[in-house]
Formats: sequence, structure tokens, C-alpha cells
Amino acid sequence: MKEKIVTEAIEYRRSVRVFRQDKEIDTELVRTCIKNATLAATSSNMQLWEFYHITTPDTMVKMTKACLGQNAAKTAKQLVVVVVRKDLWRKRRKSNIEFLKSVYGNKSFESYSKREKFAFNYYKKLIPTVYFDFAGILGWLKYGFFWSIGLFKPIYRQVRKSDMRIVAHKSCGLAAQNFMISMAAIGYDTCPMEGSDTLRIKSILGIPHGAEINMVIGCGIRDEKGIYGPRFRVPFKEVYYEV
Ligand SMILES: Cc1cc2nc3c(=O)[nH]c(=O)nc-3n(C[C@H](O)[C@H](O)[C@H](O)COP(=O)(O)O)c2cc1C
Repeated sequence: MKEKIVTEAIEYRRSVRVFRQDKEIDTELVRTCIKNATLAATSSNMQLWEFYHITTPDTMVKMTKACLGQNAAKTAKQLVVVVVRKDLWRKRRKSNIEFLKSVYGNKSFESYSKREKFAFNYYKKLIPTVYFDFAGILGWLKYGFFWSIGLFKPIYRQVRKSDMRIVAHKSCGLAAQNFMISMAAIGYDTCPMEGSDTLRIKSILGIPHGAEINMVIGCGIRDEKGIYGPRFRVPFKEVYYEV
């Protein structure tokens, strides 16, 4: 199968609400597209995401109910749930530190170069400063502290609990788009869905309270009635500013 080039895939991708029932999709190919999702850019390379690939009929039925019976779920051949795992920040920080040691060597801190020390300190000091919180209270204290420094010089301000949720969701959104474009490149279709009962989805997937559902993506091959209308975008000049 010849893959589409990026622009062709971007143009081909539409939100498909009705998938063909007589056409299956290859689980391995979908898995490869999920691997592409994990190559998306991710804030501080923290990779605070997980991907649940739903292929079994009984889970598909449960998930359809949790997706409020939407056609894009009901007719989908498979589903992919992009899950935000901000709660795993300690584990991912550790993985990044281990990775740095594997690249720079496991030696005494003093023997690392300036750039290597910076990289270690980023994960050892900065990441906990930004991610550690206690019931959202610490986040507000940090926000006040950073805000006062910000009076005198440019400073990173996204340190509240709500800011950190946005940070994690942003990266998951990029991963979801990588996935959908990869699917489009091989002629597979998708529909991103946020219209769902996320509490029920978490219970179906058996994931903890601290996890959040970024989106559920219906997957299959487009039915001829699967795209509800022509693509609509506001004029480019309304959203584009060269500054
Ligand atoms: C985060 C997100 C959530 C969405 N949720 C739903 C949804 O629950 N149900 C649905 O049918 N479409 C959903 N969509 C699809 C949008 O309606 C669709 O992307 C938009 O209308 C533009 O159409 P296009 O994707 O075909 O270009 C969602 C899209 C995004 C990005």
C-alpha cells in the first residue's frame, strides 16, 4: 500500500461518523499508528499519556454506551482512547533521568559537562518544582511566587494544578493528531470524540481516578454517508496573523 504524503493525509482526514461494516481494519496497522502517536512532541519529554486500543466486541459495546451511543463509536471497528496520566509524573521523571544516565554515563555529578548537568537538574529539580502539588494549594503558592518574580523578568507561569492539566492535555492532543494523520496516510478513518462519560470510560478501562480521558477515537473505513458535510473552516485571514 502506498502511503499518502503528509499534506495528502491531512487533507484526507475527516471526522467520520459512520464506518463501513463490511470492511475490517488491521489491528497491527492501527498499533503502528499508535506507535507514531508516541513520537509526538511532548512537554519536557514527560510522555504523560497512555493509549488504550479497544478491539474486543464486548468492550466496544460498553465503550459505545459510554460514548453516549454516538454513531462514530457504534459503527467503529476499533477504538483508541488517549489517556492523560499526569499522575505518572514521578515515574516519567525517573525514566528520563535513567535515559540521561544511559546516554551520558552513570558517573559522579561533577564529571558531567555543563549541558549534561543542566539536563539532570531539569528533571531532578525543575520538574518536581513544577509538578509537585498538594490539593492545588501549593500550585497557587508557586503561581504567586512566580508571578512576583515575573514583575521583573520573563518567567514560566504555568504552575497551578489547572495549568499542569492543560500542559498534559496539550501533549496528548498532539499524540492524537499524530495518530489520526498516520491512520489517514494508510487510508484508515477516525473520529475524535470528547462527547463521552469519562468516569464510566475510566471504570471500563480500569484506570485510576488521577487519570483523565483526553479523547476517544473511533476507527474504521469511511462509509459513503460517513462524512456529514463539506469541510468548513473560517477564512484563513481570520485566524492568521503575521506579526
Ligand atoms: C477534541 C475534539 C472532540 C471532538 N468530539 C467530537 C464528538 O464527541 N463527536 C463527534 O461527532 N465529533 C467530535 N469531534 C469532531 C469535530 O466535530 C470535527 O473535528 C470538526 O467538526 C471538524 O471536522 P473535520 O474533523 O472533518 O475536519 C471532536 C473533535 C475534537 C478535536
